[in-house]
Amino acid sequence: MPKRAKISIIGGGNVGSSCALWAASKELGDIVVLDIPQAENAVKGKMLDLAQCGPIERFDCQITGTSNYQDIADSDVVVVTAGLPRKPGMSRDDLIDTNVKIVRSVSQNIKQYAPNAIVIVVSNPLDAMVYTAWKATGFPTHRIIGQAGCLDVARYRTFIAMELGISVEDVTALLLGGHGDDMVPLPRFTSVHGIPVLQLLSAEKVNACVERAKVGGGEIVKLMGTSAYYAPASGVIQMVEAIVKDKKRILPCAAYCEKEYGVSSGGGKGYFVGVPVVLGKNGVEKVVQIDMDPTEKKFMDESISHVKDLVAVVTKLFPDLA
Ligand code: NAI
Ligand code: 2OP
Repeated sequence: MPKRAKISIIGGGNVGSSCALWAASKELGDIVVLDIPQAENAVKGKMLDLAQCGPIERFDCQITGTSNYQDIADSDVVVVTAGLPRKPGMSRDDLIDTNVKIVRSVSQNIKQYAPNAIVIVVSNPLDAMVYTAWKATGFPTHRIIGQAGCLDVARYRTFIAMELGISVEDVTALLLGGHGDDMVPLPRFTSVHGIPVLQLLSAEKVNACVERAKVGGGEIVKLMGTSAYYAPASGVIQMVEAIVKDKKRILPCAAYCEKEYGVSSGGGKGYFVGVPVVLGKNGVEKVVQIDMDPTEKKFMDESISHVKDLVAVVTKLFPDLA
């Protein structure tokens, strides 16, 4: 009999518990949500509450809240949501010092207790945290992936569908770059049931959707006083589903690139940047390369340069991660 997948989520706050909710509702496997000892009762309570949706929502899986890393043993996928979210007026980058310390210690525990897992990093600033998890676990690059693109492209697709008054399901789009306000949504690769979006909407209207997607996280922070969680978690679970079902989906993820997209200028030093990848049971199975026009390439280069700056801040503050 095939065994159920095991999905562990580190950090049982807004994003982590929403990840558990989406994973359970799609019956993707057994779920463990781990938080710090001070939050153990809260996470146990939330997961008991979630388990009691099973009879109504018709899912059968074990759901555990814990602060004990032994409970993540044999995980197929570990999602890292531990860390502070931003408050109004903060950028994702303002979280770097605190969240590197958290993600580094979480990653060391993943290395010890779930050494074969594929790790999906969510904590912000995302592009620096994926790098931190890679260095602190020492895992091969195909097993370290950052979630940002699935969320960012979902925001962009939502705004295009709202503008056209059509189903979100029919909007497909591509988005590259880091998880910052300089992310790169690509109108030339956006279509509505195969019809190029620029045949249906003016360039100005498409650009307005691009700009709204870029600051989509900030729009929600301003409204709620903390950062988004339903759609971020939905993006994470889209990736988890592709992995545990070995779907070979092409999704925009923060993946390790060297020559790809001209990321490394030599010396073999790569970075994790948002690119389309094939996701399956081995994690990142392939980085999909596309041809960009000079304007798209310029935006991508700027975004990659911001990712490099962030990683430089990490290695300056924490030389053990260099
Ligand atoms: P939250 O404050 O609701 O939850 C964070 C949880 O992490 C808390 O329960 C806290 O106790 C836990 N935690 C802190 N240190 C820990 C440790 N050492 N080990 C285990 N758990 C620990 O925050 P929220 O909204 O869930 O956001 C989590 C992170 O995800 C933030 O850094 C946020 O910026 C980021 N984020 C990233 C997105 C993306 O697309 N990449 C989207 C939305 C949020
Ligand atoms: C978001 O984009 C803050 O990264 C978080 O909602």
